[in-house]
Amino acid sequence: MATVTFDKATRIYPGAKKPAVDQLDIAIEDGEFLVLVGPSGCGKSTSLRMLAGLEDVNGGSIRIGDRDVTHLPPKDRDIAMVFQNYALYPHMTVADNMGFALKIAGVPKAEIRQKVEDAARILDLTEYLGRKPKALSGGQRQRVAMGRAIVREPQVFLMDEPLSNLDAKLRVQTRTQIAGLQRRLGITTVYVTHDQVEAMTMGDRVAVLKDGLLQQVDSPRNMYDRPANLFVAGFIGSPAMNLVEVPIIDGGVKFGNSVVPVSREALTAAADKGDRTVTVGVRPEHFDVVEQGGASTGSLSKDAPAGLAVTVNVVEELGADGYVYGTAEVGDGRQDLVVRVNGRRVPEKGSVLHVVPRPGELHVFSTSSGERLSD
Ligand SMILES: Nc1ncnc2c1ncn2[C@@H]1O[C@H](COP(=O)(O)OP(=O)(O)OP(=O)(O)O)[C@@H](O)[C@H]1O
Ligand SMILES: [Mg+2]
Repeated sequence: MATVTFDKATRIYPGAKKPAVDQLDIAIEDGEFLVLVGPSGCGKSTSLRMLAGLEDVNGGSIRIGDRDVTHLPPKDRDIAMVFQNYALYPHMTVADNMGFALKIAGVPKAEIRQKVEDAARILDLTEYLGRKPKALSGGQRQRVAMGRAIVREPQVFLMDEPLSNLDAKLRVQTRTQIAGLQRRLGITTVYVTHDQVEAMTMGDRVAVLKDGLLQQVDSPRNMYDRPANLFVAGFIGSPAMNLVEVPIIDGGVKFGNSVVPVSREALTAAADKGDRTVTVGVRPEHFDVVEQGGASTGSLSKDAPAGLAVTVNVVEELGADGYVYGTAEVGDGRQDLVVRVNGRRVPEKGSVLHVVPRPGELHVFSTSSGERLSD
């Protein structure tokens, strides 16, 4: 087992104007499950392939344990990779597929058999060892691909979207199995996905990339509670965090007809940049709905109810919860917002809700730079 370190690792594809991966810095702990996540084209696969030795590194370095592997060929890195399209050999049985790398490495037959049987037991594949891949379900093929990686007992597992060929239900099951298996084996794992839910449920830590640049590396909890910038705030969480540009006023920000208190540090930081607004982030579950009738308590204008008026467009009822998709007048424009409400008391389509962010659950970002200002 080993740590993995990306030290300002950079990849510039021939002919490209800017790096596909730009000075990536991540220190992955021994036994850690790290997930690389981000939108299509952000550089996830390139990062993984640099670690695998399948892509040149044009700047910086990569280490596995204390070994600098930056320019080592893939076979000398002691890694095993699981790809999206499993790449099983169709003419070989499951057992032969799983043992193939060991056979090439000249491992004695009996030892291969033992390792394959052990891996098959872990993966619940024992009864399929004699079958060919075409006689397996998608999920079983995926497990064979995992088995092929496991029998090699590598220092590091690399996985690039290994679940994307599975249907939604099987994907959820298999992600739990892979995360559980990784924890049992304790092998350092770097896992690539574009699915933030997968990232948040599987990773010890999650690294968010955008345009080849690392945005944040953190535990799923911190990523959700303290996103480092507007990009991460909008990317992590489903439905996404509401991001609203609001004017700075005395003691806080103006949110519809309410003043919402914001820390002095955040407001000073915004003012130092010459900004008159900040962008506040509120998760759908962090709005309080202001009851009608209690009208103007806390309101800036006497006759209007406090908070921001949201016109209900669509209500999604999920049983315990409901999500209201609505529109609000913000500044000079209109903006879509999502509000979580009690599933037993959902508002009607076309009605108007007045919402205020729950105290202490507000995220404040610089409108100009996007960086987080609140702590
Ligand atoms: N072989 C290549 N030659 C030139 N450019 C490439 C090559 N491979 C990838 N790129 C470019 O590098 C950038 C990063 O690509 P990469 O495959 O790492 O993205 P990704 O995050 O894995 O995306 P996806 O989620 O779609 O798989 C993209 O802009 C892509 O077009
Ligand atoms: Mg990719």
